[in-house]
Amino acid sequence: NTMIKVAPSILSADFSQLANEIIKIEKAGADWVHIDVMDGHFVPNLTFGPPVVAAIRKVTKLPFDVHLMVTNPQDLIEPFIRAGADIITVHAETAPHLHRLLQTIKEHGKKAGVSLNPSTPLAVVKEVLDDLDMILIMSVNPGFGGQKFIPGAIDKIARLRSKIEQRKLTIDIEVDGGINASTARQVIAAGATILVAGSAVYGAEDMTQAIKDIRGLD
Ligand code: DX5
Ligand code: ZN
Repeated sequence: NTMIKVAPSILSADFSQLANEIIKIEKAGADWVHIDVMDGHFVPNLTFGPPVVAAIRKVTKLPFDVHLMVTNPQDLIEPFIRAGADIITVHAETAPHLHRLLQTIKEHGKKAGVSLNPSTPLAVVKEVLDDLDMILIMSVNPGFGGQKFIPGAIDKIARLRSKIEQRKLTIDIEVDGGINASTARQVIAAGATILVAGSAVYGAEDMTQAIKDIRGLD
């Protein structure tokens, strides 16, 4: 399925070897590099800041898909764009002025995404559907890799896909959390187009095969 993109999450990489870990997924057929930014406030974990993103920007030309799990996205959008982000996704739960944030991302010529926690209804993006490129449906509660897929995400993706089609929009649906070959199949059938996978890619013996399996190729 060539329309499907796979975005391995470097949250599951060996941080002492970050450059090599990115080169590995590039060689294995990754489409994007998914970068999980956690601030220890919105989620109970801390990861990468703009200097780390700027450093790894030198090792690959693959698009950087930056997933901001932070309470103050308004302060971090521009630093991450300067560091080399190509797609910036903010959590709706952190953004009372979501429309303004999306405008800021687009003014810089970057792709804008909005992410929804498992408990957040689709309704929160209804008024900004014309202003975004991607919606990220979380299929785990954000904060950690290696968690179990929450099955309710499948119906949520299907409802969102039908809403997007009704409105004749071209919006990618990304899904993040607990994705492996089997859950990938289900979310692709529901209408997801971009699959994030951390442990299923970095934990695989054969990364090339793992990415193919997630994409749905034999
Ligand atoms: C969770 C992160 C995910 C995580 C996915 O907060 O947003 O991107 O790395 O890891 P897996 O694929 O192991 O569930
Ligand atoms: Zn993520």
